[in-house]
Amino acid sequence: MPDFIPAFSLARQAETVGAAVNQAVARVLASGRFAQGPECEAFEREVAALFQGAPAPVAALTCASGTDALHLALRAIGVGPGDVVLTTAFSFFATAGAILLAGARPEFVDIEPESFNLDPKALEQALDCPLRAHEGRIAAILPVHLYGEVADMPAILAAAAPRGIPVVEDAAQAIGARRAGRAAGAWGAVAAFSFYPTKNLGAMGEGGLVTSHDPALLERLRLLRVHGSRQRYEHEILGWNARMHELQAAILRAKLPFLEGWNRRR
Ligand SMILES: Cc1ncc(COP(=O)(O)O)c(C=O)c1O
Repeated sequence: MPDFIPAFSLARQAETVGAAVNQAVARVLASGRFAQGPECEAFEREVAALFQGAPAPVAALTCASGTDALHLALRAIGVGPGDVVLTTAFSFFATAGAILLAGARPEFVDIEPESFNLDPKALEQALDCPLRAHEGRIAAILPVHLYGEVADMPAILAAAAPRGIPVVEDAAQAIGARRAGRAAGAWGAVAAFSFYPTKNLGAMGEGGLVTSHDPALLERLRLLRVHGSRQRYEHEILGWNARMHELQAAILRAKLPFLEGWNRRR
């Protein structure tokens, strides 16, 4: 009997998901497929079903981590060296890190004191700041749905859309979350999710996912995920190895049916 109660323990999840996870692992071992295969594809379809009712059909692509998801999402929408991305001042390091990895510069906008998420009024001010003309093109706006609470996306999109600036959602902490009935990941041009073990849907290792309603963008993300390759050993663009492990996809599939209940309890 431990003489303290841990504030957070993933070990207890075994009581709920242990049997389903064991079956999933056995299935992958027997299949002999370990990288970005049928389990990943099935998980993509199952996650896409969470977005039913979105204004346009949303598709999902698995990748190796939330960091990869963000980095590739930014690259897919054309963010590159010399660009500026407006983002929140309050997030995990990977949000700004992904912007820098894409070659761009993060510029921080203040947060709402109640939600800790990007403040749309501060965003408008940053967009209209007269000094901006010297600071590089604003290539994207990157709000974060921190702690699973969806940022004020109606107001953020109202600021972004008339200026033609794409919005990339950092939904790493928010799979299954909704605002005004619309799911996190169904608002922007593209969204990034994380399945780091402590996330509300956690892998037993690393994992990530991108969602978008734009078929051309999804096609580009598909290429970026495997070294720019559509056909084996033919590389059209410079990409990355961001494949998801089949074991993680199978484990996430086993846990997915519990997500809604877990989110409700949170
Ligand atoms: C807000 C936010 N963005 C990005 C990430 C990066 O995700 P990952 O750890 O899967 O690379 C995380 C989680 O760690 C996060 O909390």
